[in-house]
Amino acid sequence: MSWVSTSPLQLIERETVVSRAPLCPEIQLHLVTHTCRLWRATDRDLEALELADPFWAFAWAGGQAIARYLLDHPEEVRGRKVFDFAAGGGIQGIAAALAGASCVAANDLDPIALHAASMNADLNGVHLDLAGGDLVGDPLAEFEVVLAGDAFYGSEAPAVLKWLCRLAKAGKRVLLADAGRGFIETEGLLGLAQFETPTDEDSDGTRLRPTWVYTPNP
Ligand SMILES: C[S@@+](CC[C@H](N)C(=O)[O-])C[C@H]1O[C@@H](n2cnc3c(N)ncnc32)[C@H](O)[C@@H]1O
Repeated sequence: MSWVSTSPLQLIERETVVSRAPLCPEIQLHLVTHTCRLWRATDRDLEALELADPFWAFAWAGGQAIARYLLDHPEEVRGRKVFDFAAGGGIQGIAAALAGASCVAANDLDPIALHAASMNADLNGVHLDLAGGDLVGDPLAEFEVVLAGDAFYGSEAPAVLKWLCRLAKAGKRVLLADAGRGFIETEGLLGLAQFETPTDEDSDGTRLRPTWVYTPNP
């Protein structure tokens, strides 16, 4: 079958399988697994599909860790307004909604990620408000809890962490997760939980990634 560019919804339906993230079997997601041809897609294939790297199609270690933490500690979000930064497929936001958040906004730069997050929310019988664009630096005035799972990559990572620390100082509960990727300094953060997260995100077979859920020190 050749790659045919199509609507985001059709693409997600056609190129993913509905699976469960290993750390959060309660949650179903449209994921690219080793049985999917997107798993082996080359840059040229992605170009033919006019698709950026499909980060939304994987259950990243950080997202799984925050989701597990919220399912185990629903009091963190129950009745509160939650903002899911760099949501990807929305696993953390979906967990927040399942844990009783009053509303959850999923934010991502990639418009396809927002489609995936919305479709994944439907699979789990919850709703996510969708927020596109780069909101790093925004005071997020209407939100009480901010989630950031596996959101620290490249030269932007320290600025993202600074922003999250400012939000925490302003009184928001900030939960972030890092799987030791090395882009942020974690010494000043308070560790809330650690997981050995099964993940196949690196396309080189399933393995366990030690992953911490942190909150900025007050
Ligand atoms: C590794 S994925 C993690 C997705 C999800 N948080 C998880 O753990 O499964 C990183 C995501 O961050 C998004 N992203 C990167 N920079 C961003 C920014 N400045 N604002 C919003 N999203 C961003 C990417 O599009 C991508 O979906």
